[in-house]
Amino acid sequence: MYVEVQHPCIQHKLALLRDAETGHKRFRELATEITMFVCYEALKHVEVEQVNVQTPVAIASCQKIANDIVVVPILRAGVGMLDGILGLVPTARVGFLGMYRDEETKKPVEYYNKLPSDTTDALYIVVDPMLATGGSTVAALDAITGAGVEKAIVVCIVSCPEGIQAVERSHPDIPVYTASVDECLNEKKYIVPGLGDAGDRLFGTR
Ligand code: PRP
Ligand code: URA
Repeated sequence: MYVEVQHPCIQHKLALLRDAETGHKRFRELATEITMFVCYEALKHVEVEQVNVQTPVAIASCQKIANDIVVVPILRAGVGMLDGILGLVPTARVGFLGMYRDEETKKPVEYYNKLPSDTTDALYIVVDPMLATGGSTVAALDAITGAGVEKAIVVCIVSCPEGIQAVERSHPDIPVYTASVDECLNEKKYIVPGLGDAGDRLFGTR
């Protein structure tokens, strides 16, 4: 299951993010802003619990988010979404999974895994700006479900049909929220039209 969040405010920022002329400072700001909007939509159906709050006037019946939340950025580009999601859920814990795509095979190689302990009841939110072949996201979902996590969602910025299908095939219960489902992958397994290499554009490495 996937949701493409097509709000004009997101699509406007996504147009700026895609632009090859956008430098790394602005790219980072836009990634943060888009992440906040997409996560806002992704958390629409999160479980809430009723709480009574004493206002200066009376007792108000209110709602608070019931589950602990763990955000898992996939290193390195996922870090570019961390500020945006923590702006929305400042109490979230953060786990890190390091993956890079092997240049030849395009398969993910895991090089770091640090998830918070005793959080298998939490809602896990895996964030990575790009869902291309889906290899990295699927490997991240394998790692967290393998550790006993039962509730997880994926938030990305740009995706494509191949990546979404890969997640749907391997983790059919885990929804993907994205700002765009692009056309396809090219021969180098880059998303078309996409935005290029998200990590390099975020961190100014190329
Ligand atoms: C990029 C991106 C995703 C992955 C997507 O990371 O941030 O993690 O590629 O591709 P996939 O869906 O085909 O797995 P990259 O390997 O470039 O590493 P980086 O974040 O360190 O730049
Ligand atoms: N990783 C990226 O950064 N961009 C793509 O288009 C595909 C994988």
